[in-house]
Amino acid sequence: MAVTPLINETQIQERLAELAQRIEADYAERPLTIVAVLTGSLVALADLIRRIHGPLRIALVQASSYRGATTSATTLVINETFAPDVAGRDVLLLDDILDTGRTLATLVEHLKDRGAASVRTMVLLRKIGRQVVPIEPDYHGFVIPDVFVVGYGLDYNDEYRHLPFVGVLEP
Ligand code: IMP
Ligand code: MG
Repeated sequence: MAVTPLINETQIQERLAELAQRIEADYAERPLTIVAVLTGSLVALADLIRRIHGPLRIALVQASSYRGATTSATTLVINETFAPDVAGRDVLLLDDILDTGRTLATLVEHLKDRGAASVRTMVLLRKIGRQVVPIEPDYHGFVIPDVFVVGYGLDYNDEYRHLPFVGVLEP
């Protein structure tokens, strides 16, 4: 399958620099915990955190959706083995892409239930036209059309995550 470049390395790095500056200003030396959603947000996480000056912790969560066998309802199973206590902390939840919005919305509620003092959200990409759950990310890198993208953390069958740019996967 071919990958047609959509957002190049320079564009991504410049945008992350802008967002890092905004995050730094918004949190103004308040200790921040970035909770990154595995595995897609890892590349953005690594590039973003090196641009944020100020007290910062990192945590990781995994969220997998399962389609019920007898119903069409999807359940999101959250694994937080690598998420230390977020109680009382200001949390920034980071994901690779906002598609239907289910992952982000569910995780925000989960982190609030765990006692986070505040929860903001950031996505590298925001796909237009697919959102089911109303949630507005506090920070987003790029708005993209309803196409399937890979690279810079995003995968198809766990491949293509290592591409340094975001591209459209064409069959
Ligand atoms: P949501 O819960 O529907 O918003 O789904 C978000 C998750 O779906 C992301 O964390 C991605 O893993 C996956 N996803 C959605 N769209 C794409 C895409 O275009 N490429 C790769 N993964 C995607
Ligand atoms: Mg994902």
